Amino acid sequence: MSGTDKIRQLIELREQAKLGGGEQRILAQHEKGKHTARERIQMLLDEGSFEEYDMFISHRSHEFGLEQESYLSDGVITGYGTIDGRVVYVYAQDFTVFGGSLSETHALKICKIMDQAMKVGAPIIGINDSGGARIQEGVRSLAGYADIFQKNIMASGVIPQISAIFGPCAGGAVYSPALTDFIIMSDKTSYMFVTGPKVTKTVTGERISTEALGGAVMHNSKSGVAHFKADSEEEGLLLIRKLLSYMPQNNLEDPIQTACTDPINRLEDALNEIIPENPNEPYDVMDVIMQVVDREEFLEVHALYARNIVVGFSKFNGIPVGIVANQPNHMAGVLDIEASRKAARFVRFCDCFNIPIITFVDVPGFLPGSAQEFGGIIIHGAKLMFAYGEATVPKITITLRKSYGGAHDVMSSKQLRGDLNYAWPTAEIAVMGADGAVEILEGKKLKEIEDPDERAAFIREKSDEYRNKFANPYVAAKYGYIDDVIEPRNTRFRIIRGLQALATKKEMNPPKKHGNIPL
Ligand code: HXC
Repeated sequence: MSGTDKIRQLIELREQAKLGGGEQRILAQHEKGKHTARERIQMLLDEGSFEEYDMFISHRSHEFGLEQESYLSDGVITGYGTIDGRVVYVYAQDFTVFGGSLSETHALKICKIMDQAMKVGAPIIGINDSGGARIQEGVRSLAGYADIFQKNIMASGVIPQISAIFGPCAGGAVYSPALTDFIIMSDKTSYMFVTGPKVTKTVTGERISTEALGGAVMHNSKSGVAHFKADSEEEGLLLIRKLLSYMPQNNLEDPIQTACTDPINRLEDALNEIIPENPNEPYDVMDVIMQVVDREEFLEVHALYARNIVVGFSKFNGIPVGIVANQPNHMAGVLDIEASRKAARFVRFCDCFNIPIITFVDVPGFLPGSAQEFGGIIIHGAKLMFAYGEATVPKITITLRKSYGGAHDVMSSKQLRGDLNYAWPTAEIAVMGADGAVEILEGKKLKEIEDPDERAAFIREKSDEYRNKFANPYVAAKYGYIDDVIEPRNTRFRIIRGLQALATKKEMNPPKKHGNIPL
């Protein structure tokens, strides 16, 4: 073979590999409203930056006629490229080859780039679209999955790991995404479950559709397994690019500060009026967030799940931060099981990757009731407490209004090593709300008052007394639990100054194998 023929052979093999499972199957993929693995990678990465690995790999199986059917790349496209000029490793399962199912060699390809991502210290992005274990390969496929899981576990907290689900992801295959930091699901074209509708019906008798059991809406709003729902694959891939802009490449680096055109000392007079006169009246904490961050940009995580707490990424003077905020507009911003888990996971992510945490507090307490107690609110609330308490990144807390009881301690209080704890003059920092306190403190007296009007007047009088005494920021400020009471319109400036001062913060936890977070 001449040199020219050898080059032609290479080009032909490349063309063959690019066809995956063939034109018919590519067409079928497009007809389902889905893109191919290579198209997805092209959309995700900076133009022309993709370097592919292992294009010429094919499976090594000789059972069930597989020796007759073999495709270059073996159902997964792997390699590296850049996003906004920063290196990322990526794999995308190719549904046109054996339904994107995972073989021994398919797993080896993924493991290879996971190892490289770890060596280089660069994020890894997995795009999932697969029928699960390659049935013909049996336990070799299971072993391949387990190899990936182990690498996911080792990479956790070292490099950011992001999963997109753009098709089926079922059985044990769900556990790789579950071990990563963020899951994005495409609406109506993806699903995730450990056990599908057919087996569910056989075992439990329950009839349920694929979409209802494991679709993007369910996982974003009910289970909390997914962090984002994307209306299209393009939107999902853009979201990944955006998400990475708030993260460093790995745990040894800081997130990148970008230039900021939004004035740091911008005063927002509207914030001085944002808290309603009536302490029981809700308001949207998103209005507070939007007015203080750079250019009203906030990437909300878990937007449809546990809406009584808001978490997400933003920037202050170009410095990436994680924001946690109780949401008075939903269930009065109470902390329940789901909100505690959601916020705890987010706080831990930020701490892993050196992202400062800004917390806005307006919390009436933990949600009472048997459903919460039976569900283990004690353990779940403790997760959030643990997450804040172990976090060593800069932590700035702004108490907007209520901060009661155990929830006060949990929400990045001074005693959980809050670096800067500010309060607005509208803050109410106390053991409990005024009405609850009067019920307990004046219980004996209340029993003696029979006339309902007299009773109501007495409660009102005592509540006012309690509120005047305790429902303000100055008692906490007197003890140094609050560093300063600030004018709301100054909040942006005070946060930025705080972040600048805390940029060199060094805090170490005692040496240990690892803590035992209440799981
Ligand atoms: C081998 C597979 C496959 C698999 C699909 N294909 N899944 N080949 N192993 N797991 C092949 C099909 O034979 C078909 O080949 C092509 O991929 C497309 O599949 P279709 O069924 O035609 O596509 P569609 O109708 O869209 O249905 C997709 C699907 C279905 C819902 C994913 O294929 C399916 O149910 N597959 C099996 C799922 C499964 O049971 N997997 C094993 C789970 S156990 P042709 O040649 O016709 O194009 C598991 C354990 C993991 O994953 C444990 C980890 C710890």
